[in-house]
Amino acid sequence: MRIGIIGAGNIGGNLTRRWTALGHEVRVANSRGPETLQDLAAETGATAVPVTEAAEGAELVVVTIPEKAIPSLPKGVLDGRAPGAPVVDTGNYYPRQRDGRIAEIEDGMPESAWVAKQLGHPVVKAFNGIYADHLLGRGLPAGTPARIALPVAGDDEEAKAKVMALIDELGFDPVDAGGIDESWRQQPGTPVYGADLDADGVRKALAEASPERTAEWRA
Ligand SMILES: NC(=O)c1ccc[n+]([C@@H]2O[C@H](COP(=O)([O-])OP(=O)(O)OC[C@H]3O[C@@H](n4cnc5c(N)ncnc54)[C@H](OP(=O)(O)O)[C@@H]3O)[C@@H](O)[C@H]2O)c1
Repeated sequence: MRIGIIGAGNIGGNLTRRWTALGHEVRVANSRGPETLQDLAAETGATAVPVTEAAEGAELVVVTIPEKAIPSLPKGVLDGRAPGAPVVDTGNYYPRQRDGRIAEIEDGMPESAWVAKQLGHPVVKAFNGIYADHLLGRGLPAGTPARIALPVAGDDEEAKAKVMALIDELGFDPVDAGGIDESWRQQPGTPVYGADLDADGVRKALAEASPERTAEWRA
């Protein structure tokens, strides 16, 4: 599959490593330009590109940059993707440590609904609650007991199914977490976040989540 990754940090870098190892063709971009990604390109065989070219021809695009940087992405950054290509949002809102105040999220908009609004395109929320190094090293074959499960939320069922298949291929159990309206159930501060649960554990944690943002996760 041809995959475009916008953001080449902890998550973008490790998705590049895993997907190239699985034989996918990856184009990866950061904010500073492809010349700063030559080590990652040499290590993985991915193609480092300017951010405006990351989505070109991609059958899947992943946006994996700090929440506060989303509005600064160039207009039309997703335009070149292949028809029907899902856009994955891995992001989390960290108002205190990193992102500052984002009023609509503070007022209750799910983080991924806000991201989709900024991008002008629906997103599938995935990978937001697993540590980057676990994403790199803790994938297991399907059927292995205690295989880590990852919740996947989105309104486009076809797009969500494609993302879930890729998650299974990466070594994790995908769990359908409903639509973007329900995606607060996997945000920072919820029981599933960072917990490395198996599929039953993820379903239980999603069901037990509270929509209230705790003080720790407010600006
Ligand atoms: N770290 C984790 O374990 C983890 C786990 C799950 C989810 N997440 C979430 O996933 C997102 C990414 O996290 P991360 O830890 O991978 O971040 P990170 O290590 O800080 O990397 C951020 C990447 O985004 C790029 N970037 C920033 N602004 C950009 C822009 N305007 N255009 C293009 N690229 C831009 C940066 O490029 P430059 O370096 O060139 O600026 C960098 O490559 C965050 O929302 C985070 O909360 C993180």
